[in-house]
Amino acid sequence: MDWKEVFDRGVYTTEYAHSEIIPFICRNTRSGSRVLDVGCGLGNNFLPIVDRGGVPVGIDLSDVALRAAAAKYPTAELHQYRFDDVWSNIGDASIDLAFDSKSLTTARIGEIRTAMASVHRCLKPSAKFLWWTLSDSSDWARVGPMDEDGYIESSVVADVPNLTVFRGYTFLSYPQAVRLVTQAGFKIVNATIVKRETLAEGAMRRMYEYFVFELVKVP
Ligand SMILES: C[S@@+](CC[C@H](N)C(=O)[O-])C[C@H]1O[C@@H](n2cnc3c(N)ncnc32)[C@H](O)[C@@H]1O
Repeated sequence: MDWKEVFDRGVYTTEYAHSEIIPFICRNTRSGSRVLDVGCGLGNNFLPIVDRGGVPVGIDLSDVALRAAAAKYPTAELHQYRFDDVWSNIGDASIDLAFDSKSLTTARIGEIRTAMASVHRCLKPSAKFLWWTLSDSSDWARVGPMDEDGYIESSVVADVPNLTVFRGYTFLSYPQAVRLVTQAGFKIVNATIVKRETLAEGAMRRMYEYFVFELVKVP
C-alpha cells in the first residue's frame, strides 16, 4: 500500500508529534518564522509552530492528508508535492527552519537526495534542519528483503499489534547518512543515535534504531 492509499483509506492514525521534533521546533521558532515540515501528513507537528507564532509550511504527496492538516491549521501553507518534485511555490531562501519527522525515510534514496537539495535551496543561509531517519542497525532492517540502496519494500510482521504490514522504508548506515547531508551542503551540528526496544505483549523483542541530525545550511 503506497502512502496516497494509506491516507485515502484512513489507515494512518497517529495524531501526535514526535518527541525529538517538539523541542527543536520550540527552541528555534520565532514569531513569523516560516517552518518547513517535509512530509507533513496530517500536520501532527504543526501545533508547536503555531503556538510560537510561526507559519507551518508543509509538503506531502497526499491531498487527503493535506486537507485534514488545513482544516486543523488554517494558517498553514500547504503544497501537494512529492519529495522529488521541484517545489516551485516555495521560494529560494524563504524558509527559517525545517524538519523531517519520519518521512524521507519512507522514500528511496534518490528521492531523499533530491529532497535534501530542495530543503537546502529553500532554507535561508545558516538556517537549521532536523532530519530523523532510520538506521540499518535496527532489527527492523531485517524484517524483509532489502535492496542494494537499503530499501525494504514491505513485509508481514504478524507479532506486532497494529503493524501486521510493514510499509516501505530506507535504512541507512551512519556514513551513508553523513554523506547525504554533506553532499547536499549541510554542516552537522549534532547527531544523535537513538536505540529503543519493542516490548509489546506477545511481540518479539526488537531493537529500533534511528538517527536524528541537527543540520545547518552552509551558505
Ligand atoms: C510516517 S508518515 C510521517 C508523517 C508526519 N511527518 C508525522 O510525523 O506524523 C510519512 C509521510 O511522508 C509522506 N510521503 C511518503 N512518501 C512521499 C513522497 N514520495 N513524497 C511526498 N510525501 C511522501 C506520506 O504521505 C506521509 O505523510
